[in-house]
Amino acid sequence: MAFRQKHLLGIEPLAPDEISTILDLAQDYATRNRSGGNHEQALRGLTQINMFFENSTRTQASFEIAGLRLGAHVMNMPMQASSIKKGETLIDTALTLNAMHPDLLVVRHPHSGAVNLLAEKVACAVLNAGDGRHEHPTQALLDALTIRRKKGRLHRLSVAICGDIAHSRVARSNIWLLGKMESRLRLVGPPTLIPAQARDWGCEVYHDMREGLKDADVVMMLRLQRERMDGGFIPSEREYYHRYGLDAEKLSHAKPDAIVMHPGPMNRGVEIDGTLADDINRSVIQEQVEMGVAVRMAAMDLLARNLHAARAA
Ligand code: NCD
Repeated sequence: MAFRQKHLLGIEPLAPDEISTILDLAQDYATRNRSGGNHEQALRGLTQINMFFENSTRTQASFEIAGLRLGAHVMNMPMQASSIKKGETLIDTALTLNAMHPDLLVVRHPHSGAVNLLAEKVACAVLNAGDGRHEHPTQALLDALTIRRKKGRLHRLSVAICGDIAHSRVARSNIWLLGKMESRLRLVGPPTLIPAQARDWGCEVYHDMREGLKDADVVMMLRLQRERMDGGFIPSEREYYHRYGLDAEKLSHAKPDAIVMHPGPMNRGVEIDGTLADDINRSVIQEQVEMGVAVRMAAMDLLARNLHAARAA
């Protein structure tokens, strides 16, 4: 088994064979999830704590379902009501939780790097569920699994990631993953929303949607991450939709069988046309959500195996 990590903090530290190991196991879990029943035991007897310092609907639910399906005891810490609000630091919260001996800690935090810091202080396996604009590894893995299922491979595919790249951890994790798996990457968006160093990441940069989407196999749309913007990055939503919102006409420049992806939450009529998002012949947005559960099951299963091995040693 090629998965040597103690934590899943990002895609950057993973080797290609480790990425493939997660995706292969997730593919198995996806099949088993579809056939119903719930007889999985990989996390039996383990305690999983979900700590979301930032709002989340699908990611938190997905981690919770994944843990329950594998037999873990899952606890959601209500961070809004927690001691953090009383001035406790992240480290103190981590140490307090650590003293309760959890096995898996799933953390989302608004600050880039906070989850890595926390992982240094605890004895359990830590999974990053999104930290600031840094990384969101399980999102990139579920995106990769969805692409692999639809296109049969990840290498030599042309993938266009469009919209607010600058504030997006989804974009960063996907750029790491797709780069390691030898996809061809294009970043498409207004100059204000594409970081200056994007060309050093091995990506082509386009400010015109029709040029950027030309012959793409995969079109990945991103939300405007307003909570991470200080000041105005776009003239208006109307203008943004006109230039960068994905609709059938702009999509016609991609390959005829190109798939449309979005990590959610979606802003219909801002970055994507609602009818296109719902078009089951083009959009794989619901399959992304489905693969999210399978990928999180695989990631927690693999981390738990390494945890058991380390404890036995
Ligand atoms: C993303 C996130 O939180 O980074 N959502 C998600 O996890 N599905 C993207 C976003 O918030 O736009």
